[in-house]
Amino acid sequence: MKNIFLIILGLVAIILGHYLLFFDKTSAKEDTNMNKKVLVAYFSATGTTRQVAQNLAEAINADIYEIKPEVPYTNADLNWMDKNSRSTIEMDNHNSRPKIVNDNFSIENYDTVFLGFPIWWYIAPTIVNTFLEAHDFSNKKIVLFATSGGSGFGKTVENLKKSVANSTEIKEGKLFNNNPTKEELKKWADANL
Ligand SMILES: Cc1cc2nc3c(=O)[nH]c(=O)nc-3n(C[C@H](O)[C@H](O)[C@H](O)COP(=O)(O)O)c2cc1C
Repeated sequence: MKNIFLIILGLVAIILGHYLLFFDKTSAKEDTNMNKKVLVAYFSATGTTRQVAQNLAEAINADIYEIKPEVPYTNADLNWMDKNSRSTIEMDNHNSRPKIVNDNFSIENYDTVFLGFPIWWYIAPTIVNTFLEAHDFSNKKIVLFATSGGSGFGKTVENLKKSVANSTEIKEGKLFNNNPTKEELKKWADANL
């Protein structure tokens, strides 16, 4: 009788142990996801990328940060048909680093950054490199999104990788040229977290 009692007690202990182990693992996983802070950062010269960034941030309930040029771009600056316009000169030299407004922003608390911009001359505007070089993105994940007149990302990832540590992951992400809904943006973002 005593032996049967001990066997049952042993079985209960084993089952309870497994259950507690499973529960512990599940809650640890939930903890990691909950602590993952996500940022939507963007640069936009004429508002198209801003609209996508705002919808994305709202759709996934993320913080949002605008990369602001110290000297805003005028229409004349953005004239890509003018060889002497500011944007043409900046994009002719991939090492140009247009200054951004210094606003004490800190990237420290974020693990994943959705980074948006317009495509300029087949890559990201060099002001995006300025932003990446102004902060420490080590061990963080950056997922790109962009708007354009039709071009793809081209060598965008290659050009941005020069501005981050080896431990930073940069993912090409997606072009959003047809005004996606918040539902579409959320679905895309969730799949890329
Ligand atoms: C200087 C400059 C260069 C551009 N280069 C390209 C390009 O190479 N390919 C393209 O499809 N669109 C190009 N565009 C168009 C922009 O990518 C497009 O209008 C974008 O949606 C603008 O985004 P924004 O309103 O957020 O600034 C260029 C626009 C500018 C101002």
